[in-house]
Amino acid sequence: MKTQDILKIKENKTNLNITPFFKQRFSPRVFSSEQVSDNDLKIIFEAVRWTPSSFNQQPWYFYVAKKGSQGFDKLSSLLVDGNFWAKEAPILILGCFIKNGQYGENYYAQYDLGQAVATLVYQAQILGYYSHQMAGFDHEKAKTLVDENYTPWVMIAMGRLGDYEKAPQAIITMDEKPPQRKDKVYEII
Ligand SMILES: Cc1cc2nc3c(=O)[nH]c(=O)nc-3n(C[C@H](O)[C@H](O)[C@H](O)COP(=O)(O)O)c2cc1C
Repeated sequence: MKTQDILKIKENKTNLNITPFFKQRFSPRVFSSEQVSDNDLKIIFEAVRWTPSSFNQQPWYFYVAKKGSQGFDKLSSLLVDGNFWAKEAPILILGCFIKNGQYGENYYAQYDLGQAVATLVYQAQILGYYSHQMAGFDHEKAKTLVDENYTPWVMIAMGRLGDYEKAPQAIITMDEKPPQRKDKVYEII
């Protein structure tokens, strides 16, 4: 399977004139070994800083680990077996929400983290990186690695798209499925 073929399969099919950027985003399982540059990381997390949040509490925190580091080994050891492919990404990011805010328990912390992650994904995409978010990791073990105020909630594999011609068939089988979506997500009331 050629990478170009995967890109064609993954392009979201719609008759409506949505921005091509949104047609092209998808969550791959094959990453290039090229590292995400420190400067691009700075830009990505600068964009994250400007994410809106409930009462502007910004209840998020991210741990970033580059492949080859102890931090990366720690994060990758948390992944469930099905997320084995993420161990080849150049970077793993552990996204946490902060439940105890300045006004007591923050019931919108997870919502706001999700929005911060969306910012991260889209700023990374603008810089040419792909992201794959994962809930499939050992949350309890992850808690032992982070500050006690932070709740680990999502792992993100990020990097440039890899070469699908060199990828194991097991991964290609997962990624050659065309994207599927519900037809209806809103109504006018
Ligand atoms: C919060 C969250 C958790 C996810 N967990 C996993 C996961 O553990 N493993 C995985 O392969 N994909 C995971 N995904 C990716 C979704 O399956 C994927 O986004 C969805 O199928 C739509 O595909 P697309 O992102 O390529 O458009 C997760 C996505 C989100 C947003």
